[in-house]
Order: sequence, then structure tokens, then C-alpha cells
Amino acid sequence: TMMSVFVVTLAYLIGSIPCGVLLTRLAGAGDVRRQGSGNIGATNVYRVAGKRLGVLTLVADMLKGLLPLLLLQALGRQDEVLLALVALALFIGHCYPLYLGFKGGKGVATALGIFLVLSPVSVVLALLLFAAVLWRFRYVSLASISAAALMPLLVLAFERSTLLFGVTLLIAAGVIYRHRSNIERLRRGTENRFTF
Ligand code: G3P
Repeated sequence: TMMSVFVVTLAYLIGSIPCGVLLTRLAGAGDVRRQGSGNIGATNVYRVAGKRLGVLTLVADMLKGLLPLLLLQALGRQDEVLLALVALALFIGHCYPLYLGFKGGKGVATALGIFLVLSPVSVVLALLLFAAVLWRFRYVSLASISAAALMPLLVLAFERSTLLFGVTLLIAAGVIYRHRSNIERLRRGTENRFTF
């Protein structure tokens, strides 16, 4: 329906909001896209502009995935297909934002927000793997890739919806695909290590 097209488009535009770029610019820390890994996500904001802005970016990009889905649910939309399309649109918006010439982030924080709504139990377990990998290897990228790879299995184990499983596969594949440059650096041994 027209209404669904409108809602999904709106979700894409919300996902497109480049929180990391906006927050660092507002804080006078320059353009995050020209520093560090060049990524607009929380990890790179943390790297180039400090802990406070990094955490703010993580929370903002996460809420970008979480709030619209919560709102949709609160409005009583039981339409599972619409919820799935909105989740995908939010994620795609972050990775390919209209406002940045479609050059966006890797989708980790936004996917976190999305899955906190769609499968919280999976998120808890994926976060455990994320923390363990980060603790052991000190690469946020490797932790993100590992958690993303685990998510479809968790959703398969804990949720009944085939549609949700499909969405999870797409988002997980998207997260891993967006980490191509990190995978290349991990191979060469030149990936940035995370320092607390
Ligand atoms: O969330 C993105 C993270 O996994 C990697 O970020 O800046 O090290 O490429 P970055």
C-alpha cells in the first residue's frame, strides 16, 4: 500500500541520518570520514574524537534502529512484513545514506538497535561473543563480524519466524560485506587494535 511505501521510505531516511558525522562536526572534531578508518561509525568516532563522542555515536546509531521499530509496534502494526521491510530500510539507510552520497557505515550499531527489538535474546548472546572476541583479539571489526555471523544461527534457534530469519541473514551478510576493508587489513595484520 501507499502507506507502507511511505513508512519504508521514512525508515530509509531515518537510517540515513549520519549520527557520527553530525556529532563530531557539532563537537568541532572535524570530519570523521577523513580520519582514522574513515568510517562514520562509533568505533572510528571513538578512535578519532574520544570516548564520549564514540559512546554517543553508538547510542544514537543504535536508537536509530530501535526507536522506529518500537514506534511501529506501539502503533499496533502487527504486520510482520512491514516490520521486516522497515528494519531492512533502517539498516540500508545507515550503510548507504542519501545525505552522504550513499557512502555510509558498517551497520553494527544500527543492527544492534534493530535486533534489540526483533530478537533480544539473540542480541544478548551475540554480545557475549562480541565481548569475548574483542577482549581476546582487540579488534572491534573482528568482534562485529563474529557477532554478525552468529546472529542468523541464534535467530534460527530462538525465533519461529522464517521472515525474521531471512531479514537476519540479509543484515548479517550486509554487516560482513561492509567490513571488506577491515577483512583485508585483518589478513595483512594491519587492522587497528582497540584501546580502552
Ligand atoms: O562498527 C564498525 C567496526 O566494526 C569497525 O570500525 O572504524 O575500525 O572500521 P572501523
